Amino acid sequence: MHENGQKIAVINLMGNLFMRSCDNAFYKIEEVLKNLKTEDLSFIFVDFHAEATSEKMAMGHHLDGRVTAVVGTHTHVPTADATIMEHGTAFQTDAGMCGDYDSVIGTKKEEFVRKFATQDTERKRVPPADGEGTLCGVIIESNTENYLAKSIRSIRVGGKIGN
Ligand SMILES: [Fe+2]
Repeated sequence: MHENGQKIAVINLMGNLFMRSCDNAFYKIEEVLKNLKTEDLSFIFVDFHAEATSEKMAMGHHLDGRVTAVVGTHTHVPTADATIMEHGTAFQTDAGMCGDYDSVIGTKKEEFVRKFATQDTERKRVPPADGEGTLCGVIIESNTENYLAKSIRSIRVGGKIGN
């Protein structure tokens, strides 16, 4: 619930391509949307946690005109494609992480490079990189008369890739 009484829905969906398999996100979202009372809502945000850019873009088009925003997560690197899609949904393939970009997706670069160089496949947690972080994300405005998007702007503040 927003401070002036507006209701916001946040949906976290898991992708399937190159990931441990979950329910099919394209079917699951239909079930979720059917159970939402959309007439009460001023903002429907879909976080699509997925590995493949193709799957994330496909989900954006699948939901275009039906939700306020589809923003991808999981790949940790912000993409430069913030846009309002054809039918009014704001989209960006990946929001990027909030963290140290002098790293490999937020973890100690030396350790990750060693893992690739030595083909070390042991599933051991790589410690996080602890340099100055960049805050990444998107700012999205929705229309007051419906829950479609009015604008989307991607932001990067501080650290290595801030602007
Ligand atoms: Fe993830």
